[in-house]
Formats: sequence, structure tokens, C-alpha cells
Amino acid sequence: MISNPLRDPRDRRLPRVPEPCALVVFGITGDLARKKLLPAVYDLANRGLLPTNFALLGFARRDWGDEDFAELAREAARKAARTPWREEVWERLAGSVRFVQGSFDDDNAFDQLAATLGELEGTHGIGGNAAFYLSIPPAMFPVVLKQMQRTGMADSTSGRWRRVVVEKPFGTDLASSRELNELVDSVFTAEDVFRIDHYLGKETVQNLMALRFANELFEPVWTGHHVDSVQITMAEDVGIGGRAQFYEETGAARDVLQNHLLQLLALTAMEEPVEFSAEEIRTEKLKVLRAVSLPEDLRTFAVRGQYEQGWLAGQRATGYRQEEGVDARSTTETYAAVRLGVETRRWAGVPFYLRTGKRLPRRVTEIALVFKQAPHLPFADTDTEELGNNQLVVRVQPDEGVTLKFGSKVPGSVMEVRDVSMDFLYGEQFTEASPEAYERLLLDVLLGDATLFPRNAEVEASWAVIDPLEEFWAGTTPQPYRAGEWGPRAADEMLAAEGRRWRRP
Ligand code: BG6
Repeated sequence: MISNPLRDPRDRRLPRVPEPCALVVFGITGDLARKKLLPAVYDLANRGLLPTNFALLGFARRDWGDEDFAELAREAARKAARTPWREEVWERLAGSVRFVQGSFDDDNAFDQLAATLGELEGTHGIGGNAAFYLSIPPAMFPVVLKQMQRTGMADSTSGRWRRVVVEKPFGTDLASSRELNELVDSVFTAEDVFRIDHYLGKETVQNLMALRFANELFEPVWTGHHVDSVQITMAEDVGIGGRAQFYEETGAARDVLQNHLLQLLALTAMEEPVEFSAEEIRTEKLKVLRAVSLPEDLRTFAVRGQYEQGWLAGQRATGYRQEEGVDARSTTETYAAVRLGVETRRWAGVPFYLRTGKRLPRRVTEIALVFKQAPHLPFADTDTEELGNNQLVVRVQPDEGVTLKFGSKVPGSVMEVRDVSMDFLYGEQFTEASPEAYERLLLDVLLGDATLFPRNAEVEASWAVIDPLEEFWAGTTPQPYRAGEWGPRAADEMLAAEGRRWRRP
């Protein structure tokens, strides 16, 4: 690319390309690597966002050579890439794909990995820079991290950077996440640790900040003076797929409430950051997470559910307990809903209702601000019977966009006010498709931009919210709901107890 001397280098609209580097992936045969990471690497290459001097390294136990790994990566990328397939892009990438065989407790294999990184400095000019992606079960973290420490692979020195990417779940409770954080921090320096919460990589989630802080229209009413309640929904129509073992030990609250939903809450409730930087944004999110309160009456305001056999999109769906690999008496929840508070001046008294579930009628993630009713209506009661609360809905996925719901006069000779909606759809306003969350986040790791990655204090503050919930639920059986329904009845009763209703997205 020809550089333009008139352009300000701080201009964030310019495509940012990382310095020469290698990406090392542990767990390359896993689901995440095949479905998300390897396709994201291809998409970045296709968009010209990888440095010319780049190498992709896989580490696994299989008895493979470089070509076998290159073939797996090619297949994975072809299957799931977002951008069109261009053989010449792949050919260029394939020349810098390396594979190192070994198990995590094998000292020789890690020595070999360190040596391969060294060689790549000479052959591919990666400049000693490397990001290590731990796409492996958390139980494996200690041994891998210790190997990296032993071989000196984790050391960022003046001439090079070394970064580590940690996938959720970050522990299973506050105590274990502290342990994990201490371990990671003992091997890598804090600014070299990237904790991935892929919801933060979604375009619409980032748009929350643009919507709030780039406009005059919304922020003045974005407070408890005008907002009656907030509903954050992450609904999935899928079940647990092939992840029975992981899911049995985890459940909906640990799987997504602790991370994705609380991060959405933090972005919704936070104050304006002093500047748009990793440090300031993360500081504001942390303040919110520390201010989150649980309801006193958990019996009414915290609900967990488990799907039973039902129907979804005209197909019979198996019940959770009948899924392969699931205990027939399992008490793991596949649905969780809770009413939280945010104890700040802006949000005092406003309930934040969070819910998530598998095998719900459709896949939808949204944040809805439900406003108070107008303090006075100068109409006859009958004129406004069809008028609900104003709502501002940020649709994270699918149909990414924003909807504003408000009252309007029905055409005709009488006065009648009814709800209407005004829609902004990404697909209609922009020609460029949004990057995949992993594409964006991988690029940020290579660029060293931590804005969209939670700090360990955020992770710990989130566990401090979840731990008491899990304690309360321990030993109880989740409430049943049929696959294809919007969760257990108790979740509806939870809102009804305060005269409210869930949105039906
Ligand atoms: C993951 C959870 O973090 O997010 C999965 O572990 C869930 O259980 C997934 O299905 C949903 O991600 P997305 O991007 O498809 O909404």
C-alpha cells in the first residue's frame, strides 16, 4: 500500500496491519479452531490484514507433518470462511504453516516449538513476535503455561512481543478464576494477556458505545429517570451439540451469564469513558460489574430451567437428559434468568432482567431498554389502550440493528395512539458485511489492542455475581420447559411479580 503523508497515523479508519509475527494455536483439532480460528485467519489474509511476514503454527498430539496440518486448516477455512474463497490467498498462507507434534507434558515437543519459532525468524522474518492461542480445556492451562515459562517462550523482551490468548470459561468460580489469573500473570505480563469474550467482538456490541456516546439523542434518557427496566436476552435454538461433557459441568449460568451477558450489561450501564482506550473502557465496565447486586429474594428472582423433549421448527427435539453423554438425572441448567440491580446513581431502582437458554424458539440476542410511561397523557383512556412503553432495542444478532418503538396516531378521523417501530438494519445501511467476532479479535491480539478484552478484575467481579447464585441453586432441580418454548413458567412469573413481561423478540 502506498502511504499517504497527509494522513494522520492515528486515523483509526486506516486498515491496521500487525507487525511480522506468528500465531501458535494449541488445540487445533478442536471445534473452536476448526469452526472459528482457522477460517478467521484465512479471512484476515484475504482482506490483506495479515503481515507479509506471518506464520501459523499448530501444536497437537497427532502424528502429522506440516502438510497434514495445512490440509486441515485449508478444509476448515474453505468450509467456514466468511469471505469468498481465493486459492491464491490460501497458497500464500500455506507456505508459512508449520506443525509441531507432541503432548503438553512433553518437554522435547516444547523445545521443538521454541526452536521452530526461532527458525521462523530466519526463514519467514517473523521478528520473534508470537501470540499463543490456548484453545484447550482450562485443566490443561497450568502444564502448557509452565512449559512456555520453562522454555522462555513467554518472555516479551525489548526486541519482540509474546502474547497469550485465553478462552473462556475463565475458571468455574471466583476462587478458581483467581488461581487461573495468578497463574497466567506469573508467566505473562498483564498487558500480554488477552481474555476472549467473543461477544465483545460482535459489531453490534461495539455499536452500543457508538449509539450511546456519539449521539445526543439517547444518552440523556439512558438513566433510571426515564428507563423503567432493561431486558438482556441471549436465546439459542440449538441444544448442546457435541459438548455434553463440558456442558454437564458448566450449565447456562457459568457458560454465558457469567461472561457474555454480564459484559453486555456492563456496556449498557457504564458511564462514558474518559477516552476510547482499553484502559478507560475497561475501567468503566469494571465499576458497573462491581456495582451489580443480586436480589434478596432469589427464590422469585432467579430461575433456572432445563429443556425437555419438544418441537422446534417442525422437528422433534430431544430433551436435555436424553442427549448423548448427559446423565439421565442431570440437574444442569440449560436456561437461566435473573433480576439484577446496578447500585449507582444512574441506575438505582432499575431492574436488569437477564435471561439465556438453549432450545428456545429462535436464536436472538438483544438488549432492550423499556422506558417509563409518559408522566401524563392528555388523551381519553380509550385512545391509548394500544400504547405500550417506549422501547429502544439493540439487536445483537441476527438482523443486526436498532429498533425504536413508540406511540403514533393511527390514521383516521379519531384520535387513537398505537405502537409503531422505526428500524435501523445494518444490512440496509452499509454495503460492507461485518467481520466475524473472532476475525476482529484475532486481529486485535496481533495488533496488541486490548480494548475488547475483559481485564482479570472484570472476570473476578463477574464471578462474585455468579457464585451466590450457584450456591443458592446447588442441590436443586431446574424447572422444566419444553424445547421450543420461551423457558420455564417461573421466568414469566418472575417478571409478573413486578407487573412486567418479557419481550417476545
Ligand atoms: C459460547 C457458549 O460462548 O457462545 C456456547 O459456550 C454458545 O454455549 C455460544 O452456543 C454462542 O455464540 P454465538 O456467537 O453463536 O451467539
